[in-house]
Amino acid sequence: MNLLNLARKVGAELRSVVREALESGEASCEVGIGADGTPTEAIDKIAENVVMERLSEKGAFFVLSEEAGSVALAEEPEYIAVIDPVDGSYNALHNLPFYALSIAFAPYREDASLADVSTAYVLNLYSGDEFTAERGRGAWYNGRRIRGTGAGNLSEATVCIYSTPQSVGTLMPLLKRIKRVRTLGSAALELCHVARGDFDAFVDVRTYLRNIDVAAAKLVVEEADGAVTDMRGTSLKASLLRIERLNIVAAHSMEMHREILRVLRKRNFK
Ligand code: IPD
Ligand code: CA
Repeated sequence: MNLLNLARKVGAELRSVVREALESGEASCEVGIGADGTPTEAIDKIAENVVMERLSEKGAFFVLSEEAGSVALAEEPEYIAVIDPVDGSYNALHNLPFYALSIAFAPYREDASLADVSTAYVLNLYSGDEFTAERGRGAWYNGRRIRGTGAGNLSEATVCIYSTPQSVGTLMPLLKRIKRVRTLGSAALELCHVARGDFDAFVDVRTYLRNIDVAAAKLVVEEADGAVTDMRGTSLKASLLRIERLNIVAAHSMEMHREILRVLRKRNFK
């Protein structure tokens, strides 16, 4: 099965369904609590239904998705599909053009983790820009290969950071060293822009992001010669079979990644 072609078909359909739902106002009401324990907006449910229907037609999948949780679509699944139907739901509902479909595929195994993702697809549902990656083969932005530069100068860096009152102490040494901070509200897309070098790094130490938010974009960063670990420098090993939370440090270059981990170790609260 050509997994990227399947993801592209789903993405094209989802773009028009999401646009219609936003234009009609149908997208913006709370419709329950998702498998991840957060409120489900209609937009998330409408989008997830489209993706689930298309994958059901193929039958070969075990799906992990934001609202539905873990769903086996076959008795003996061939692949795992980790889905965030709309990453950046707040943006979508507030007319901010930065929200994405994220799909990560891996061969089915009961102990599959983020390290096993083999194919990644992230589509900016507003602009139509697409990021893809295949393990060992590379990463692409709208079909053009993306590669890291290997560079890393923290004092010139633009870093995507999600800061909360609880995490600001941990983040302070980093905030003091970098040039710019951005928080754009879609972890999947922010990570993909790190892969492209538009941002130098992405740091989220809340341990609140979920495997579904980052499963695809992690591979895009790695295949563009970037680095992704948790805030202690350990590889991310969250399961692909159930929703798990994580913290993350991702950078466009190994050098920048190393430097950020080093600075984060110097916690202070001033
Ligand atoms: C959210 C986005 C956001 C991150 C939140 C996620 P959602 O995903 O990735 O950037 O800061 O923690 O929940 O809820 O819009 O799919
Ligand atoms: Ca998400």
